[in-house]
Order: sequence, then C-alpha cells, then structure tokens
Amino acid sequence: MIKFILKYFRLATTTSIIVLLIFAFTKCMHKNKDGENIIKNNLGQQFAGSATCKNCHKNIYEKHTLTAHYSTSRMADKKYILGSFAKGSNTFAYDKHNVVAMEQEDSSLYQVAYVNGIRKAAHRFDITIGSGAMGQTFLNWKNNLLYQLPITYFTAANQWSNSPGYPNKIIYDRPITSRCLECHSTYAKTFPTPDVAPEEFDRNQIIYGVDCEKCHGPAAEHVAFQTKNPTAKKAQFIVNPARLTRQQNLDLCASCHGGRLQKTTASFQFTVGDTLAHYFALDTSVPTPDKIDVHGNQYGLLRASKCFRMSDTMTCNSCHNTHENERGNKALFSQRCMSCHTVEHKNFCSVNQTKGLDIKANCIDCHMPLKSSKAIAVFLPGATAPLAAQIRSHLITIYPDETKLMLQFIKKHT
Ligand code: HEC
Ligand code: HEC
Ligand code: HEC
Ligand code: HEC
Ligand code: HEC
Ligand code: HEC
Ligand code: HEC
Repeated sequence: MIKFILKYFRLATTTSIIVLLIFAFTKCMHKNKDGENIIKNNLGQQFAGSATCKNCHKNIYEKHTLTAHYSTSRMADKKYILGSFAKGSNTFAYDKHNVVAMEQEDSSLYQVAYVNGIRKAAHRFDITIGSGAMGQTFLNWKNNLLYQLPITYFTAANQWSNSPGYPNKIIYDRPITSRCLECHSTYAKTFPTPDVAPEEFDRNQIIYGVDCEKCHGPAAEHVAFQTKNPTAKKAQFIVNPARLTRQQNLDLCASCHGGRLQKTTASFQFTVGDTLAHYFALDTSVPTPDKIDVHGNQYGLLRASKCFRMSDTMTCNSCHNTHENERGNKALFSQRCMSCHTVEHKNFCSVNQTKGLDIKANCIDCHMPLKSSKAIAVFLPGATAPLAAQIRSHLITIYPDETKLMLQFIKKHT
C-alpha cells in the first residue's frame, strides 16, 4: 500500500515537473533575452513595438501618440475612459427595475447589473475600444474569449448608454471576433482553431492601437538593420506607403475604412502592400451619404466622387497626414483642397459670392457635410428615436441644402 502511494506520488511529481517545464518553455518562446514579449504576425514577421521607433523617429512618434488611431484600443485604464464612475452619473437604467452601474472596486472597474436593486452580476472592464471621438465600448475576458460589455460611453450625449444594436435588456454574451480587432488594433493572435466560433485570443499577443507597424508592416528587421548600420541613410526593410501603387496605398486604408468587407481568408493575413481583393470580397455597393456606415465607408464614398475619379493621383493621404491629430482643423483641410482647386487652374469654387462668406476658410461644411451614422447610434433612456454620431460624408460634391444652411448661418453672424 505504502509502496503504491509512493509510486503514485513519484508519478504525480514527475508529471507536474513535466507540465511545469512545458509551461515555462512555451512562455519562454515568446520572450527574448531581455524578457520582452516577442510577437510575430501570421506570416512569421516579427514586430518591434512602436516604442522602439521613438529612438530614431521621435517627432513622428510623439505626434502619433495623440491620434485616434493610436488610442483606438488599449487595456482598460480609468485615466482614458471618458464616462463617469462618480455616484449619480455612473448608471444606465433600462427601466425602473434593470440598472447597470459603473463601479470601481480596488483597482478594477466593473459593469454591475442590478435587478430591483439586487446585485446580480459584475463584469470587469478589460479592454477599451474607441478613442472617444464618437464613443467608447468595452470588452471583458472570459478565459480566452472576449465579450462586449452591455454599456457604452456615447460622446455626443456625454453619458453612458446601451451598446449600439443591443436589445433593451442586460446581456453579457456578445462575443468579439478577430475582425473587430483587425480594424481596432495592430495585431491580435488567435488560437489556430478553424471554424470555431467565437475565436479564442492569446492575451499576451495583442498589439493595441492602430500603430506604426499596422501601416508600415512588422519592423523588427528594419530596427535591427538601422541599429547595426547607423550611417545607412536608406531604409531597406520597411514599407513606405508613398512608394506603393495608388491602389495598394488605398487598399491599406480601405482595409478598415472600406465598408462591409467579407473576409475570404482568416483575419490578420492582409498586410500593407498587399492587394485587398485577395483577402476580402470587396464592398462594391455604390454608397450614398445616407448609407454612410460600416461604421465608415470613406473609401466607397470617395471613390464615387468626381475629385477622385477625375484625378490620377488622389489617395487618402492627399488630405490626411495620419501621423498627426488634425481633427476639426477645417482651415488646414481646405488648404489641401486648394492644392488642386485654384482660381488659376480655373477649377475654383463657383458659389455665388455673398457678404461675409470667406470661401477659403471652410470648403468642408458645404462639400463634405456631416451626416448621421446608423451604426454608431444609441437609444438614451426614455428616447423614442436614436441619437447618432455625426460622420463626414466623403462623397465630395455640391450639396445645395447644406450651402443654404451655411449661408443662413453667415448672415445671422455678420
Ligand atoms: C535605429 C534607428 C531606427 C529605428 C529604431 C527605426 N527606424 Fe525607421 N528609419 C531609420 C532610418 C535611418 C531611415 C531612413 C531615413 C528616413 O527615411 O528617415 C528610416 C526610414 C523609415 C521609413 C521610411 C522608409 C522609406 O522607404 O521611405 C519608415 C516608414 C520607417 N523608418 C518606419 C519605422 C518604424 C515603424 C519604426 C519602429 C517600429 C522604425 N522605423 C524604427 C532608422 C530607424
Ligand atoms: C487597422 C485599421 C485601420 C487602418 C489600416 C487605417 N485606419 Fe484610420 N481609423 C481606424 C479606426 C478604428 C479609426 C477610429 C479611431 C477611433 O476614434 O477610435 C480610424 C480613424 C481615422 C481617422 C479619424 C481621425 C480622428 O482624429 O478622428 C482618419 C482621418 C483616418 N482614420 C484615416 C486613415 C488613413 C488615411 C489610413 C490609411 C493611410 C487609415 N486611416 C488606415 C482604423 C484604421
Ligand atoms: C471594417 C473595420 C471595422 C470593424 C470591423 C469595426 N470597426 Fe469600429 N470603427 C471603425 C472605423 C473606421 C471607425 C471610425 C469611425 C468611422 O469611420 O465610422 C470606428 C469607430 C468605432 C467606435 C467609435 C470610436 C471613437 O473613437 O469614437 C467604436 C466604439 C467602435 N468602432 C467599436 C467597434 C467594435 C466593438 C467592433 C466589433 C464588434 C468594431 N468597431 C468593428 C472600423 C471598424
Ligand atoms: C494609419 C497609417 C499610419 C500609421 C499608424 C503610421 N504611419 Fe508612417 N506613414 C504612413 C503613410 C501613408 C506614409 C506616407 C505619407 C506620404 O504619402 O508621404 C507614412 C510615412 C512615414 C515615414 C516616411 C517619412 C515621412 O515622414 O513621410 C516614416 C519615417 C514613418 N511613416 C514612420 C512612422 C512611425 C514611426 C509611426 C508610428 C509612430 C507611423 N509612421 C505610423 C502611414 C502611417
Ligand atoms: C488631388 C486633387 C484634388 C483635391 C485635393 C481635391 N479635389 Fe475636388 N476635384 C478634383 C478634380 C480633378 C475634380 C473634377 C474636375 C474639376 O473640377 O477639375 C474635382 C471636382 C470637385 C467638385 C465638383 C464635384 C461635382 O460633383 O460636381 C467639388 C465640389 C470639389 N472638387 C471640391 C473639393 C473639396 C471641397 C476638396 C477638399 C476637401 C477637394 N475638392 C480636393 C481634384 C481634387
Ligand atoms: C479631399 C480631401 C479628403 C480625402 C481625399 C479624404 N478625406 Fe477623410 N476627411 C476629410 C475631411 C475634410 C475630414 C473632416 C476632418 C475634421 O473635421 O476633422 C475627414 C475626416 C475623415 C475621418 C473622420 C471620420 C469622421 O467622419 O469624423 C476619417 C475616418 C477619414 N476622413 C478617412 C479617410 C479615408 C480612409 C480616406 C481615403 C479613402 C479619406 N479620408 C480621404 C478630407 C478628405
Ligand atoms: C457656402 C458653401 C460653399 C463653400 C464655403 C465652398 N463651396 Fe464650392 N460650391 C458650393 C456650391 C453651392 C457650388 C455650386 C455652385 C453653382 O455652380 O451653382 C460649388 C461649386 C464648387 C466647385 C465646382 C465648380 C464648377 O464650376 O464645376 C468646386 C470645384 C468647388 N465648389 C470647390 C470648393 C472649394 C475648394 C472650396 C474651399 C476653398 C469651396 N468650394 C467652398 C458651395 C460652397
């Protein structure tokens, strides 16, 4: 009997040592000699992490950290969550009986469901999605699965609301797919379990934010080369979208700003320089400003514009410098319109000149007016109609109604 127990004990010890070794080994595989996490994309290309870019591209790096791309996803941190956790403004009530409260306990944040005042469930804020330009939504880990929390922060109303598209009841079971993170992060490793829904993620292999290496490709090789050859002035192992063809350049932005793409391969296969059509069935519907969503289909709308169709060179970068936060700077964007539209070129604006109208200050509100999003819209308590986020129409054309509004506004204020 004693012999049997000893034998069993030895077997159990050996087994646990083996298990421990395997565990330690798999952990080591993702660390380099300095103990840093090593992340490779699905093609085996290694990421360097944007913190390394700072050493040699300080200016771009610092400005980039102020952009919506950079902060479109991150580990949940109260400092960056725009909604309030203070008593009195930390709840969303579905009705008299069902209420969710945003609460802090120790260093964690929770969405706590109360039914008739009785605490029923609490789920932690683990990941924040959205810079907050329009809103922020939150994800919760359950083992290796991610779920969207029921309550979203909606910027236009400056309050907590039911998550867009949710029924009017508390649900915690809406899974997050890799496609969601493909647009809102740089990389997220899923476990290779094809056709299993929802997908499982490796939480140590996520690069938050739409970061340098999303638009330039994994950069470990570039960093190693430039570090070893500090006098080399010409980069060899990194993609600059400006050197791609126009379509490749557009495809990078369209991978996230191109409407409802249906993927035809696994997520995170498309990388900068690729052809989008090899990875997705493209959204070829002709969008109109009234069907503005995926959330945004800026690419589809731009493609339908005369500006784009009659120019050989226009890309998203004709108007956007994605390294900087230029949100709301209408004068700057108007300057960019006037790099093509000038009086000398005889293609300047033909609107009737009226008193007080400074055409050059703001081409945007007349030719790219704000329209209501259908995807980013929420029902606030007691409301019968949804409140929608406002998105710029990228169908650049003549909008008589918006012009009238703008002229009325000018008349009133001059
Ligand atoms: C050790 C210095 C160093 C580091 C670190 C570094 N770079 Fe560079 N990078 C350079 C040099 C030098 C060039 C060539 C000169 C130039 O274009 O500025 C360059 C050029 C580039 C270019 C333009 C390539 C072209 O063909 O025009 C991009 C894009 C780029 N780097 C991105 C990155 C990113 C992203 C990171 C961080 C992941 C990074 N770099 C980290 C030194 C570095
Ligand atoms: C990996 C997906 C992805 C790619 C690639 C991408 N974007 Fe974005 N972009 C987003 C997301 C997500 C947001 C919304 C960020 C937020 O507010 O949370 C965004 C926001 C923006 C904004 C609004 C910025 C603001 O201040 O509100 C602009 C402009 C933009 N993108 C332009 C571009 C251009 C141009 C390219 C190509 C060079 C590009 N994006 C590539 C995902 C992407
Ligand atoms: C095809 C790419 C794509 C997918 C898929 C996608 N998004 Fe977005 N999302 C965007 C873009 C682009 C924006 C910026 C607004 C716009 O252009 O409509 C955005 C905006 C947002 C915003 C508002 C951000 C802000 O700063 O105001 C939230 C929140 C959001 N998305 C959450 C999600 C969630 C959650 C999922 C998955 C369930 C998801 N998105 C799937 C591209 C995408
Ligand atoms: C949303 C996509 C996007 C992100 C994110 C991004 N870039 Fe770029 N980057 C571009 C595009 C597009 C160009 C080419 C612009 C043009 O047309 O000249 C570019 C050009 C560059 C260049 C060439 C020199 C220059 O100034 O044009 C460098 C260097 C560079 N990026 C570094 C970085 C670094 C470092 C980061 C992160 C801190 C970063 N980029 C983040 C899209 C991006
Ligand atoms: C890369 C060059 C380029 C840029 C930048 C550009 N456009 Fe255009 N735009 C064109 C071309 C080419 C046409 C078609 C023929 C023409 O008018 O010259 C056009 C046509 C137009 C039209 C007539 C549309 C119609 O449906 O009749 C308007 C309005 C317009 N642009 C406004 C703008 C505004 C506003 C901006 C900035 C937000 C802008 N454009 C930026 C090249 C450009
Ligand atoms: C002709 C100029 C022009 C071109 C080309 C252009 N944009 Fe924009 N874009 C603008 C202007 C102007 C705004 C409004 C900026 C603001 O008010 O902050 C804007 C806003 C945006 C926003 C912010 C979302 C919102 O509605 O608030 C996104 C995302 C965006 N653009 C993506 C793109 C993408 C992707 C492309 C290429 C397919 C592109 N843009 C091409 C001029 C342009
Ligand atoms: C107050 C609103 C308003 C502003 C501001 C404005 N536009 Fe226009 N624009 C219009 C209207 C309306 C038309 C059509 C006028 C007509 O032909 O009856 C137009 C026509 C145009 C056309 C077509 C010209 C033609 O003959 O085909 C272009 C190009 C254009 N605008 C560019 C611009 C640019 C670039 C700016 C900024 C520098 C600008 N607009 C500012 C309202 C405006």
